[in-house]
Amino acid sequence: NKIDYAEITISAVSPTQYPEDGLPEIVLAGRSNVGKSSFINTMVNRKKLARTSGKPGKTRTLNFFNIENELFFVDVPGYGYAKASNAEQEKWGRMMEDYFSTREELVLGILLVDFRHEPSEHDILMYDFYKHYDVPVFVVATKSDKIKKSKYNKHESLIRKTLKISSEDKFFTFSSFTREGRQEVWDAILAHISK
Ligand code: GTP
Ligand code: MG
Repeated sequence: NKIDYAEITISAVSPTQYPEDGLPEIVLAGRSNVGKSSFINTMVNRKKLARTSGKPGKTRTLNFFNIENELFFVDVPGYGYAKASNAEQEKWGRMMEDYFSTREELVLGILLVDFRHEPSEHDILMYDFYKHYDVPVFVVATKSDKIKKSKYNKHESLIRKTLKISSEDKFFTFSSFTREGRQEVWDAILAHISK
């Protein structure tokens, strides 16, 4: 999958700033440091379109990435950041509700979880949040390069069970280091938006 055009259109804090192109939007959520920015960069073959960092909690706004004038990836701030204050968490919640309750362009939610670990309480809430707004979900388990192939089934089962992933949703393993899963996720995204 060759990507020629991928640019950030806007970092939005309020609905008035959302793009008006009418393109389908795919939201990416996951706890801080799970690898969201790396996921975007890998998907579009760029080293640093989305900023990655060792420091969690860097992304603070809804970042809209225009991909080939076909769709937007919307990177939302990572949740579950231990040092986030109550005020910051409230702001996050309001920003998410503003977006989810009004946004017709939203066609798919990607939930990134760490393939190594049992999903957290926050991950479960995020999955349920998507489902509450009737958003189809792809669960993408990141950092799969850290897990031996012989352990894949065990980790996938635990994630499926903990999140109670419904049968209409999809599960992928993904690594921005080995690029495992990149093609599978692209194929599924393109199939989904052309429905
Ligand atoms: P915030 O925006 O701060 O919430 O983080 P993020 O979810 O965007 O994560 P980011 O992509 O910045 O990656 C966080 C850390 O995980 C970095 O140190 C990355 O190098 C590392 N990382 C990301 N993807 C992978 C992966 O596929 N495998 C491994 N082993 N490490 C990864
Ligand atoms: Mg990020």
